[in-house]
Amino acid sequence: MQSTLAIIKPDAVNNLNSGDIVRLIELNGFNIKEMKKTTIEKKDAEKFYAVHKERPFFKELVNYMTSGPIIVMVLEKTNAIASWRELMGTTNPDTANMGTIRKMFGQSVQLNAVHGSDSPQAAQEEIKFFFK
Ligand code: RTP
Ligand code: MG
Repeated sequence: MQSTLAIIKPDAVNNLNSGDIVRLIELNGFNIKEMKKTTIEKKDAEKFYAVHKERPFFKELVNYMTSGPIIVMVLEKTNAIASWRELMGTTNPDTANMGTIRKMFGQSVQLNAVHGSDSPQAAQEEIKFFFK
């Protein structure tokens, strides 16, 4: 069994899509081990997305992630990291497969509804970041 960190981002919470997204998570066989609604401050968003600090979209990304409440979850499943990223779909909703969360609920490459850890190392650090 593997764990990964999932976030329902501010756009999806604001657009009342969290219930549908949680339902999809359940239907796809994940165990929701932890879940909380919270907000993050600028300095924490900068830390969380530090790998992207040199990217042109970094400032916008931090503004976006601090723009409203988020729902943070620890998901458990065999192969949870890859499995959750598959259910999320590609970063850009336009290229995401039918049936993925980003295809259904994402609005743009930035406002893409959900986050998922991209490696075991990232999952471990990101889970620690939100659930001490
Ligand atoms: P995430 O980390 O949120 O799960 O998304 P990801 O792995 O699919 O994409 P990543 O490359 O890690 O980018 C992190 C988030 O930054 C925003 N972004 N904006 N304006 C842009 O070109 C752009 N590119 C990325 C998105 O919110 C993306 O999920
Ligand atoms: Mg990423």
